[in-house]
This record gives sequence, structure tokens and C-alpha cells, in this order.
Amino acid sequence: MCGIVGYVGEQHPKEILISGLKKLEYRGYDSSGIALKKDDKVQIIKTVGRISNLEEKLKKTDLLDANIGIGHTRWATHGGVTEENAHPHKIGRVTLVHNGIIENAANLKTELEEEGVIFNSNTDTEVAAALIDKYYDDNALFAIKKAISKIKGSYAFGILFDDDDDKLYAVRKDSPLIIGYGKDGNFIASDIAAIVNYTKDYSLLDEGEIAILTKNNIEVFSNGEMIHKKVIHANITAEDSDKCGYEHFMLKEIMEEPKVLDNLFKKYENFSNLPDLLKYKEIHIVACGSAMYAGIIGANLLEEKCNIKCYVECASEYRYKKVIYDRKTLVILISQSGETADTIAAMRKAKEDNIDTLAIVNVETSTIAREADNALFIGAGVEVAVATTKAYILQVAMLALLTIRANQNKEALMEAKKIPALLNKVLGDREIFENVAKEIYQVHDAFFIGRGIDYAMCMEGSLKLKEVSYIHSEAFQAGELKHGTISLIEKGVPVFAIITDKKIMDKTESNVVEVKSRDASIYTITNNNEVPNHGFRYVVPKVSSYFQSLLVVPVLQLIGYYTACYKNLDIDKPRNLAKSVTVE
Ligand code: F6R
Repeated sequence: MCGIVGYVGEQHPKEILISGLKKLEYRGYDSSGIALKKDDKVQIIKTVGRISNLEEKLKKTDLLDANIGIGHTRWATHGGVTEENAHPHKIGRVTLVHNGIIENAANLKTELEEEGVIFNSNTDTEVAAALIDKYYDDNALFAIKKAISKIKGSYAFGILFDDDDDKLYAVRKDSPLIIGYGKDGNFIASDIAAIVNYTKDYSLLDEGEIAILTKNNIEVFSNGEMIHKKVIHANITAEDSDKCGYEHFMLKEIMEEPKVLDNLFKKYENFSNLPDLLKYKEIHIVACGSAMYAGIIGANLLEEKCNIKCYVECASEYRYKKVIYDRKTLVILISQSGETADTIAAMRKAKEDNIDTLAIVNVETSTIAREADNALFIGAGVEVAVATTKAYILQVAMLALLTIRANQNKEALMEAKKIPALLNKVLGDREIFENVAKEIYQVHDAFFIGRGIDYAMCMEGSLKLKEVSYIHSEAFQAGELKHGTISLIEKGVPVFAIITDKKIMDKTESNVVEVKSRDASIYTITNNNEVPNHGFRYVVPKVSSYFQSLLVVPVLQLIGYYTACYKNLDIDKPRNLAKSVTVE
């Protein structure tokens, strides 16, 4: 969600900024732009739509012979998707790019307008540029500090001052920003992926720190004092940001699932290196979207196998509701990016109440990874496709491992070793799922039904289908369908039935028959050959319930993927979505 890249150095910034913005595309965006600076001249070029539009415009523009620049991909929050609202924004002597939301922008704007400032866009960002300009005399550091003391909300800023030589400034609060150390120049970026072609050495900017970058040096200030930053070396390989022959990152990432699962299971083959959840009386699992659906699978396992009471909540609700904590509560935060604004807020709320927090996270340097009391890293590597696949699978696997650790189930740990090969076999059948996609891609609605843990899988399957194929889809507890939603079932509506839990198999099957009698097209995914075939049935290998979802959900991911392929959609970057949801 919004991406920032900036450079000051010996090279012309154009290539660096464009390459960085392309690497940040996965975060989601609807417009982009760059600003180039040479001495006291600033040139801003921006467009709506894809980066390729910006590249076209750059080709037709006489570019400033600059050695400092900032670039931005915008995911609209305040103000529509227009060129005026795209970043960078310039007011007076200040040009900046912004990721985040300035919550008191309306009030600040009124005050600034009364003082004579003329705004050119509907964004909250311009207000920050105006504020910094207002406080800028000849001390940029002072102006930034003063302006951010007035701003409420979240921000990562890359800032240029017309008359401040070749310096690039950066500051952040509640939105990610890193500084990168290059050979012939220095960088800022929303994440290391944006600049990894130029440097792998970087530092995380912490809350409220201000960085001043020149081509040979980076200085970071905290509360007015210059501080020393720890340099991190990124372990990203070229493969991570390459499609490696696959047509889309989403397919590549699904196909990587057996490998990353194998790595995770090997890492925890001696589960004593995992925390013991049995010491808690109650667990709250808090996350958003797919990460929350992974949490629902985990809650099913922890309750069923370990008798630990679990509540699963979406972070955007949890952060504002009255939560009644037991003294022995653990809050588990699940997040691929570790930067999801609502999940961060939920974590901070639990910490303020002195409740233990455990993060299950992919990005090791993220805010959630750093701030939670304890963090477990799933090791998915870089996930580029906006729709999560391999990270979801690893989140579920991590929760399964925590359950196995809690009930000391060594047999299940042995079974884990077989799962990657079994998943490979399922993925090998992808032509079958492509055929399902061919049958359903023109429908308007689809339903997923299941009970218990099968329903948890349905939620993820339904989300995957709708987010990438734009087909309206809903997941229902199979028994609940007839309390209203069954009125939507008519001839040919696809209903995906997930049936893996033997205890309730017959019950779900009765619900399948109910929708079949109303002419729905039934697609059953089960682990049991005895489950009737109503037209399409795929039988996944039967494994224990700890791992069954790891073989079922990839089937649903592939059906979603191929459906979007048949519709010829922008699969890795579905409309309106962002990979890293850094605003509320
Ligand atoms: C769906 C998807 C989202 C994320 C959600 C949380 O495919 O990717 O629903 O799961 O936005 O993101 P993280 O895990 O980064 O906190």
C-alpha cells in the first residue's frame, strides 16, 4: 500500500526509481510519480495507472540532469485516482512522497488555507508538505521535527528541499521505511526489495527518527541526537523476485509451497524450540484476511487437540473493542508482512494491558516481528503476488506445530515429514483444477460450504476465488446455508463442498444434497473415497487433521488462480488490493 523509493548519488536517479517502483508494485497502487532535483530545480512527473504509463511519459519528457530523486506508488486513500492526487507533491520549497494517513489533515488544511496556502490536490499529503514548508527557515531538521509534532496519524516521508543542496530526508511513524547504503549513493525505500538490485545493506528507520542522506553519508537523528544504526544484510536472492518461468507470481508461489513447508518442518523437527501454549488459559488469535483464516484453522486445532479456549478476531475490530483478558491470556498476531496497521494496533493494545504477545510473521524485520514479546518466523521468503498463498500455508503449518508442541504429539511430528511430498502430488494434478476453472469462470456467484475446520478452509478458498477472479463468492457453515442464503442457489451456481472431517461428513453431505436438489453444480474436495461424487470430486491424500488443510487449500488456491487466468485478469495485482495494508 503506497511505495516509496529515493536515491541520492552519482547516477541519474531515473532507472533506480523506476526499478524500485516496479519492485514495490506488489504492494498495490493506482498511480505513480517521481521528482528529480538538480540544484534548486525540481521536476515532477506523474501518471495514473501502471508504472509503464509513467515510463512512457518519462520517455517523452526532457529530464533534469539530476542526481537526487524520490518516487512513489500511490494507493488512493484521500482523494480519487487522479494525476493531481498522485505523489510527489510540492508546496513552496518542499517536495515529498508519503505513505500513511494524516488523520488531522482536514483541520490542518483549514488552518494553512487561512494562512494563504493554496492546495492543488485532495490529498492529506500536501498538508504535510505545506506544514514543513511553513516551519522551514534554513534548518530542514527543525522544520521536519516541528511539522511531525503537529501531525496525527501514520506516515513515512521522503522529503526534498529546493535550496538544501543534495540532501534527501526521511522520517516515519507507523508506516515502514528503510535506508540503504550503496557504493556510489544512498537510498530510502518502503522495503529492501525495492533497492536490492543496488544494495543489500540497510537499516530500519525507527519511529520518529529522521535520516539525512547525501551521496556519501547517512546521518540518523533521534530526539535531536545523532545515533548509530545497526546495518542489516538482506538475504534476498534473485529468484525471490523473479517469476522463474511461471506466468504469474501467484502460481510460482503456490508451487513453492512444498519446499517452504519442508524447510519449516525441518526447522522445528525438534519442537522443543517452540513456545508451550499450555501455560495459557486462553488464546486470542488476531489478524486480518487470510492470516485470520489461518488463525481459525489454528484455533480449531488448539481447542480440539489441547482443550485451550481460543478466540479468533479480526484486528480491525479487536483494536477498538472492549477485550476482557484473563490473566493467563496469550495474544497471537499473525501477519505475512508484519506491517498491517490494524494488527500492529491490536498487538500494541495487548501489550499496553500487559498481556503476552506472540507473532507468527514472515518479514523478520517488520514492526510486528520487532515489537511482539516473542516472534516465530515462517520463512516463506518474498511473497510478491498480492493474494497470499505460500505464507498462508506456512501460517497454518506453524499453528499446527504449536498444537503438536502443546500436546507433545511425536507421531504427528513424524507425519509432518511426509506432507511436502503429498502436497507435491496434489499440485501435480493442477490440470484438473484448471478444468474446474474453465467450467466456472463465467459465473457471477460461487459458494463454499463445510463444517468445523472444513468451514475454515472454505473461508480461505472463497476469499482466494473472489479476490483474484472478481467472482462474488461466500463461504458458509454447511448447516447455516438453509437459513437464508440457499435462496441464492439456482441452476448452475457452483458450490464447493469441503468434506474432510469424518465426524461430520454425513451432515455436510446432506447439505450438499440440499443444494444439488436446487440444481447447483457441486464440486467436492474430500479426503475420503466414500463421499459421493455429484459431478466433480477430488480426493486429496488423507492425513491427520493437523495437516489436512495443507493439502486442501492449495487446491482452492489453484482453482482461484486458473479462474482468474481464464478471465485474463491482472492476477498478481488484483484491482483495489494492496499487499501490505499499512493504513486502517
Ligand atoms: C488475501 C491476503 C490478505 C492478507 C491480509 C493480512 O490473499 O493476502 O487478506 O492476508 O491483508 O496481511 P498480513 O498477513 O500481511 O498481515
